[in-house]
Amino acid sequence: MPDIKRVGVCGSGLMGSGIAQVTATAGYDVVVFEVDQAALDRGMAGIRKSLDKFVEKKALSEAERDATLKRLKTTTNLEDLKESDLVIEAIVENMPAKKELFKKLDALLAPHAIICSNTSSLCVIEMAAATKRPKQIAGLHFFNPVPLMKLVEVVKTIVTSQETIDTLFAFAATLGKKAILAQDTPGFIVNRLLVPYLLYAIRMYESGLASKEDIDEGMKLGCGHPMGPLTLLDFVGLDTTYYIAEIMFDEFKDPLMAPPPLLKRMVLAGHYGKKSGKGFYDYT
Ligand code: CAA
Ligand code: NAD
Repeated sequence: MPDIKRVGVCGSGLMGSGIAQVTATAGYDVVVFEVDQAALDRGMAGIRKSLDKFVEKKALSEAERDATLKRLKTTTNLEDLKESDLVIEAIVENMPAKKELFKKLDALLAPHAIICSNTSSLCVIEMAAATKRPKQIAGLHFFNPVPLMKLVEVVKTIVTSQETIDTLFAFAATLGKKAILAQDTPGFIVNRLLVPYLLYAIRMYESGLASKEDIDEGMKLGCGHPMGPLTLLDFVGLDTTYYIAEIMFDEFKDPLMAPPPLLKRMVLAGHYGKKSGKGFYDYT
């Protein structure tokens, strides 16, 4: 199994920043790549805030927090990832953007390196086909908020090697995450169940069947979910959910996976949820 010491993370949005945080906390040297410095600064601010919460709760010492931050480097130059043994891609949910990045990473990285995508719904083999190392490409799907959620889905394409899968299971364990094995089908295991549920909650609200507060209270108190579906949608990001729904509908042609008209309109209005300050609820 390849020895993983240096990890590259592409994207420092909601997910990339969380992935970089847990990876550095586990002792890996991490380089985070983004399109611009402002995005890196936002990502690092989120990481500091989250680490501070762990220190407050005494789940991390101040020395561990400072050592974690020291292991994190940021860059807008992809070349700085060239020493990585593993790269985790967590950029926007868009196939052309991901394929272009995979192609560049393939040309840059050492032959032993593994490249993974944190995609929620896209076809991983399509990204693998943009590289000359398809056996070393897999999905590594984390859950939001990454520092708290214990699950990782390891996604095996029809050509991913067993050695790559074993390496990723071992890597996930070092982050304190439980890994489960998923096949390269849209939504894998969790989103295949979760996304139709979330979209149905939007349809229920859109058609005036219940207020958003009652839909959320219903699922929290009636089913013991930590968040109601409309709050969870704001938390995941309505833009990301819209991309995921389009991808899943395109693949399955199942009307339950089609993005509801209201979701599309909210995204067009820039109401992305918590990250933009407004979604189903107001965060300003
Ligand atoms: N870093 C560190 N600590 C954090 C944190 C973070 N990012 N976020 C919250 N915390 C801490 C809080 O400080 C708090 O600590 P105390 O208990 O000591 O006060 C604790 O975690 C709980 O937080 P809150 O009280 O704010 O809120 P909560 O009890 O509702 O828990 C939650 C937060 C864990 C997010 C919980 O609401 C939850 O599990 N929600 C559902 C999340 C979920 O379903 N995620 C999956 C989304 S789908 C996905 O990710 C896949 C995809 O492809 C779209
Ligand atoms: P986000 O919008 O918060 O962040 C995406 C980041 O990617 C942005 O900071 C953007 O500047 C950056 N980016 C875009 N193109 C780039 C490029 N070519 N190179 C480098 N950086 C680039 O999105 P997110 O919620 O973090 O989602 C990222 C990925 O993780 C998506 O594939 C998404 O489906 C997946 N995912 C999201 C969630 C969730 O709950 N939001 C959960 C699991 C997986």
